[in-house]
Amino acid sequence: MTTQQPAPAGATGTTPPPPLGAYDLTDPQTFLDTDPHALWRRFRTESPVHWHATDTPVPGFWVISTYADVVTLYRDNKQFTSEQGNVLATLLQGGDSASRKMLAVTDGPRHSEIRNVMLKSFSPRVLEPVVAGVHRRTRELVAQALERGELDFVTDVADHIPINTIGDLMDVPAADRDRLVEWNTQTLSRHSSEDSVLDEVVARNEILLYFSELAAERRRNPGDDVISALATATVDGKPLSEDEIVFNCYSLILGGDESSRMSSIGGLIAFSENPEEWRRLKDGEVTVESATEEVLRWTTPAMHFGRRALVDVPVRDQVIRAGDVITLWNSSANFDEDVFDDPYRFDIGRTPNKHVAFGHGPHFCLGAFLGRVHVNAMVDALRTMVSGIRLQGPPQRLYSNFVHGYSGLPVALTAEPATPAAAGKVTG
Ligand code: HEM
Repeated sequence: MTTQQPAPAGATGTTPPPPLGAYDLTDPQTFLDTDPHALWRRFRTESPVHWHATDTPVPGFWVISTYADVVTLYRDNKQFTSEQGNVLATLLQGGDSASRKMLAVTDGPRHSEIRNVMLKSFSPRVLEPVVAGVHRRTRELVAQALERGELDFVTDVADHIPINTIGDLMDVPAADRDRLVEWNTQTLSRHSSEDSVLDEVVARNEILLYFSELAAERRRNPGDDVISALATATVDGKPLSEDEIVFNCYSLILGGDESSRMSSIGGLIAFSENPEEWRRLKDGEVTVESATEEVLRWTTPAMHFGRRALVDVPVRDQVIRAGDVITLWNSSANFDEDVFDDPYRFDIGRTPNKHVAFGHGPHFCLGAFLGRVHVNAMVDALRTMVSGIRLQGPPQRLYSNFVHGYSGLPVALTAEPATPAAAGKVTG
């Protein structure tokens, strides 16, 4: 079992680490250059409610890093709003063009109304029939990977699973799905510092245009899918606006694909680096459900979310002023030693494991059940079909301060002797 204790972030030998103010959390490069566990431990202990200056039109933002504060502030949608953005990038630009058109950036009664409409399509009961399909598709892709032996786990396996589930639920034509995965990645993160901000904007517009056309078609010919459900839903007798339909489709394709993918990829890396946990999984000492929760905590694909204060709010020894931006760091809260014993240990039997990978409170992830189904299916397929995982090179990290994940993972997988040779055609 690997137990990691982080050294102070930035410390080399006897040199004291740089002050926390030296770390630019708006710069994705910071997260590639720094040991995140060590950095976040310093934030939690030295400056749990930390003012981070910027050179943007917004003068700065608060960095909230303890589990207790993150949960308290997530819960508070009276004193803090999501309507001016819920991630650092939009909050620092001064607003989100999807405000009050997309669930995640809507508050108050309209949030509850739209959430209720969307929950009808994403409740465990409604999704029950989808679960078997996710397991089947995952097993087929893992079987094909085992036949190949050496592969890129991101592009050959993980990229093809959640997009096809959400694609089926939204009835997105199969031929368009690869394009959507590429746009999703460009919208939420970049492969490297060389990809431009313009690529992000173009990709976002491509997705919106794509769903605007699809929604118009479903309005004319509704089917049994989530886009049709949004396009034909009424609240107080009135249909949703065109913008609400399109922006919520955008958020579903993004939320439905990227985070689940990143968790499964990070889970494979974690098992390859923690042979004792791999053995416990293989031997059935620990349930797949429990391992799934630890993979979600360990990988925390959504590193932060954010809000803007509507009134002055005291937090610890600071006062967050009305108008200030706050950022809630899931990637710190999920490793807070006040809540998680031995937090830097990947422990698939961890109980309790009340991580905040899906957020908390009124905006708690709408797709949490589906996200769990995806990670569960991957953990289960690895457990039953794979005997050995060997990384063939360094994983390629995404360039982002929002999504923690990978764009490439060269790996060699060996099959369990009992696994029948892969056959199944991967549909959809
Ligand atoms: C909200 C993470 C999967 C759709 C959120 C939030 C987090 C999160 C942290 C809270 C945002 C906030 O407080 O501002 C994740 C992770 C996933 C995942 C880690 C997978 C491992 C999914 C899936 C879907 C989805 C599969 C779609 C089917 C959404 C939506 C919201 C949301 C629509 C907004 C909910 C609201 O504002 O009421 N997600 N998500 N997510 N997620 Fe997910």
